[in-house]
Formats: sequence, structure tokens, C-alpha cells
Amino acid sequence: MSLEARDFLSINDLSAAELIELLDLADRLKRGEASSALAGKSVALLFEHPSLRTRLTFDLAVQQLGGYSVYMAPSEVSLGEREAVPDVARNLERWVQCIVARVRYHSSLVELAQATAVPVVNALSDREHPCQVLADLQTMREHLGDLRGRTLLYCGDGNNMCHSLLLAGAKLGMSVWVATPPAFQPRPEFVTLARREAERTGASIRVERDPQALVADADALYTDVWASMGQESEKEQRRRTFLPYQLNQQLVARAHPGALVMHCLPAHRGDEITDEAIDGPQSVVFDQAENRLHAQKALLALLLG
Ligand code: CP
Ligand code: NVA
Repeated sequence: MSLEARDFLSINDLSAAELIELLDLADRLKRGEASSALAGKSVALLFEHPSLRTRLTFDLAVQQLGGYSVYMAPSEVSLGEREAVPDVARNLERWVQCIVARVRYHSSLVELAQATAVPVVNALSDREHPCQVLADLQTMREHLGDLRGRTLLYCGDGNNMCHSLLLAGAKLGMSVWVATPPAFQPRPEFVTLARREAERTGASIRVERDPQALVADADALYTDVWASMGQESEKEQRRRTFLPYQLNQQLVARAHPGALVMHCLPAHRGDEITDEAIDGPQSVVFDQAENRLHAQKALLALLLG
């Protein structure tokens, strides 16, 4: 399979078969298979928001595949302010073979992708976080095996993580149920896309209010911060709304025995997840973090190989 020269802005940019191929390659790379797919190639890492996991794992992924990476920090990246976004892309493509970008607005990714033939990778936008979900799928497959017929319950804000999980689950036949306050539901277009895909794969997509009513059938419990990057000023107000959606031991105890406890990190302990849940025996949050490296190596190898 080759994804050569394709963009990866959304989970929906990959077919189910391509997603499985990528995850299989990620497993082989994790087991130690060597690849020099990026030998002599350069990758720009453009970040409009801070990052620990994404920045570090993309940096290492490029190096481990034999390539070079150049990082631009939020203070240096002012897409569309110092220079029009398409012009940024037209400069970058003269020096690098791939652009990995974390942006405030998804539209910047689309503009970059439209202006250049080199692959553009979404390292988080306000709409999706597809690279995180590659690692999440790898992690769930390690612990649950085939994901078809399994159920993931996502509790909290219907945000970028929620959108990518909806699309990925539906594609692979894993049901994704979302418990969220009515005003913070995932955007309707993602629910519609997921439902359309789920009809083909047999997954079910539910968006409801009460996590307690959904938790009994969950094989994985997933949460994310209540205020995403860029929403910091809403933090206090959101905390009051989201408290019933906390991933805590009481919720874990009501799910399937051994259900996975998942979080993309960074976690705000005591808010969306308790210490007991994140540090408990069912937590796989650091497996998720580890797998960012392997999943992104697989992605880069397929895009640039
Ligand atoms: N999960 C994740 O993307 O973490 P960072 O924001 O640290 O990259
Ligand atoms: N929803 C979070 C994810 C962080 C990895 C955010 O956008 O800040």
C-alpha cells in the first residue's frame, strides 16, 4: 500500500483497509522492524499551540526513519498574520518533503494542503486530532484485539478528540457512544459522517446526555480536557457544567470488567479524570502516549516512503 503524497487532515482521509495496514505497520515498527523510509528527507513541524507528546514523537519518528526535522514554536508561527498561509506552504515545499502542523484553525491546514503538493499532516486542529487516534487504535488493538463489535464510551466535551474517535470507530466497526452536555455535543457533520460509515460496518453511534446510562456496555472509557487549547478563559464555567462527566472509579466500576481507561493527555487530574482512574490498573494512558511514536512512524513511512 502507498499513501504517497496524500494529506492526512482527518481520520476520514484513510479507508478502513489503509487504516488497518497503517496499524499493522505501527505494530511491526514497535516490535523493532527497521525502516529508513525518510532517508535524506526533511519534515517541517509547525506548532501554533504547545505540545509535549506530538512534537517529541514526530521529532523522534522522523529521526528514527532516517530523516531531518525542523521545529517552529508557537511564538515563531503566526500563520496568516506575518505571511499568507499559501505563501508559507509555497516556501516550505522548496525545503521539506512533508509539513506537520498543529493549528488554531482547521482552515489553515486546508489552505496549506491546497497550496502545496507535499503531504500535510494534522498534528491537532480545532476539528480533529487524527494522529492521536492512530495511537489510540493501536493501543486498543493491543489490549482488546479486533475492535469490531467493541464499544468505546467518550465522556465530556464533544471536541476534536471526540470527532476523530467517532470517525475511527465507525470505520473499524467499533461503536462510539458519546456522553456530553447538550451544549457541548460533537459537531453534527462528524456525527452524520460517523453514522453513515457505521451503517456499513455495523457499529452504533450514540450521542446522549447521561454517561451512567451508557457505561454498562463499554469496553473502553475515554475522556479529554474540558477546555481545549484556545478555550482557557472558559475553564471555570466549563468545570461546573462537566463535573457529572468525570471519568472516576465509580464510572469504571460500572463498565465491562477490565474496561480500558483512556485519555490523550495532558490530563487535568481531579477535573475530567481522577487520580484513582488514571493511575489505576485499567489505565492505558501511557501506552497511548508511547504509541504516538510508532503510529506516526508508520504514517510518515507510508506518506513519504
Ligand atoms: N495528546 C497530545 O497531543 O499531547 P500534546 O498536546 O502534548 O502533543
Ligand atoms: N482537546 C485537546 C486535546 C489536547 C491533546 C485540545 O485541543 O487542547
